[in-house]
Amino acid sequence: MKAKLDPIALIYPIPIALAGSKVAGRANFATIGDCGIMGLSPPLVYISLHRDHFTTQGVLENHTFSINLPSTELLSLVDYCGIVSGREVDKSTLFDIFYGELGNAPMIAECPANLECRVVKGFRIEQRQVFVGRVVQTYIDEAFVQKVNGRQVIPNMRQLDPIIYALDNRYYRIGEPIGEGYQEGRKHLSKDEALTPSS
Ligand SMILES: Cc1cc2nc3c(=O)[nH]c(=O)nc-3n(C[C@H](O)[C@H](O)[C@H](O)COP(=O)(O)O)c2cc1C
Repeated sequence: MKAKLDPIALIYPIPIALAGSKVAGRANFATIGDCGIMGLSPPLVYISLHRDHFTTQGVLENHTFSINLPSTELLSLVDYCGIVSGREVDKSTLFDIFYGELGNAPMIAECPANLECRVVKGFRIEQRQVFVGRVVQTYIDEAFVQKVNGRQVIPNMRQLDPIIYALDNRYYRIGEPIGEGYQEGRKHLSKDEALTPSS
């Protein structure tokens, strides 16, 4: 039997990021859960910001933004960025900030991974302004760079120790890996399918 909740966008879990933009010449960051991948090739991501946020103003001004992925040790600063606005508080002093190829998408050095994005589409829906960004560069702390057969590979998520949020209003850290993508389902393939698996 199922009970009915009030309609709620209940998708678990929610990765927490700091969205960055340059507003009136100053770097600003807002904590967001509403962000995600729109495609891997080309690399497309989205962020959904309340239209009145200070950060939103900066993205609209410059057509650029950053997504900074904090690790759990930054939790209190991350939460702080989600409860104060850059309109009242200068959040640019909270972190070491660097700029990349676009020159006006501020990124946070203390976050182990940073995505520098150019807006390729933006639209308003209800109270939100949604931005789709093309990732022009991805930065990772050197300590996490791994090479396999001379090729750089994506760092192990456990090392990055991301902050996870959920609609029970709690922050979590990730747990154990439990399997490998495109592999775990193979045991259900029929004999014929096993010869031509889809990718
Ligand atoms: C855990 C958490 C998640 C949040 N997720 C979002 C979000 O996805 N989109 C959004 O517009 N605001 C979100 N917020 C609220 C903004 O971070 C907050 O209003 C912030 O003060 C806006 O800052 P700004 O005015 O400097 O841009 C979130 C806050 C917290 C604490």
